[in-house]
Amino acid sequence: MIIDQHQRIHSYLRVSLIERCNLRCTYCMPEEGIPLLPKSHIMRNEEIVAIAKEYVDLGVTKIRLTGGEPLMRRGLDNILEGLQDLNVDLGITTNAILLDQHWDLLERTGCTKINVSLDSLIPEKMNALSRRNKFDIIMANILGTIKRGFQVKINVVLLKGTNDDEIVDFIEWGKDLPITVRFIEFMPFSGNKWDWNENGISLKDVLQKAESHFGADNIERVKDAPNDVSKNYRVKGAKGKFAVISTVSNPFCDTCNRIRLTADGKMKNCLFSNSETDILSAFRAGEDIKKVITDGIWRKKAVRAGMDEFEDFSDPSQNQENRSMIRIGG
Ligand code: GTP
Ligand code: 5AD
Ligand code: SF4
Repeated sequence: MIIDQHQRIHSYLRVSLIERCNLRCTYCMPEEGIPLLPKSHIMRNEEIVAIAKEYVDLGVTKIRLTGGEPLMRRGLDNILEGLQDLNVDLGITTNAILLDQHWDLLERTGCTKINVSLDSLIPEKMNALSRRNKFDIIMANILGTIKRGFQVKINVVLLKGTNDDEIVDFIEWGKDLPITVRFIEFMPFSGNKWDWNENGISLKDVLQKAESHFGADNIERVKDAPNDVSKNYRVKGAKGKFAVISTVSNPFCDTCNRIRLTADGKMKNCLFSNSETDILSAFRAGEDIKKVITDGIWRKKAVRAGMDEFEDFSDPSQNQENRSMIRIGG
């Protein structure tokens, strides 16, 4: 079992496959880009599968692939085939641009839980936010993926003055689809110019907008799945749900079961932790990585890598000591 000093059992591994992306979202990476690591520092396909197996032996039952953009990873087919043999719940978080080229592979390997980033329903706005002109293919692929029967969630990072005017439109759009539209509070990472007073939209703000449009009596709270990062809601009678991931205003660390492995094989015991554990080097040196893993998770802090209070979390000298989001994978 992988357990920390706060008695949380860790059964969900998020593996970043690549540091590159075919979008340039402002909240995720600095405009000037990030220096890429030499290829020899990145986990090879067979290393990913072998390391994942060690985690599964220790009790991991769910693996989600992230990036950068994981569908750009060469050898994704080999990785997915290897992971399929581990008999875990498999999912991927993607920007959807390359989804249509991968539907068959994802179906065949049982990678059916697909979360897609989409920050605006207005083509020009989405393209400006992502600094690329891909709205049309993204939207076509989202609808195609839903039609094919994958389990789809949409991730919307909320930015005040940019897309908070689309909260109701997003809920309306998702109402008739078998999906969950999840609004995410903007989080601070290295180089993303986070300023909560300037850009933050909270769980409370989302509920206020939803209630004033649909009527408070028409919004029902839906039971969250165990270890869910989101608080889930439904407009009465709707097929789709909406939800909020409230890391900033209402952290949900008490039920955290997540472990992150970066593309260069470093384990983060929290999204915000900057003391990483070098799993890949230990693996390459032939060490018993099970002990390295369990020791690294044991040290996990109770809340947001030790930034318990909002004052700590919003202090740049604390929250900027991390990677850019593109190098963590969410
Ligand atoms: P499922 O629960 O499998 O649907 O996916 P997920 O929500 O774990 O994964 P996804 O990659 O879609 O992440 C959505 C958002 O939730 C991203 O912005 C992540 O940064 C955030 N998120 C995921 N896990 C955590 C977590 O452990 N802590 C915090 N604070 N945020 C998280
Ligand atoms: N704050 C909140 N969510 C973010 N994501 C990327 N950067 C941020 C941020 N600064 C989300 C994207 C993606 C997921 C993996 O992480 O929406 O879907
Ligand atoms: Fe887990 Fe850290 Fe996210 Fe809290 S902030 S839920 S401890 S990963």
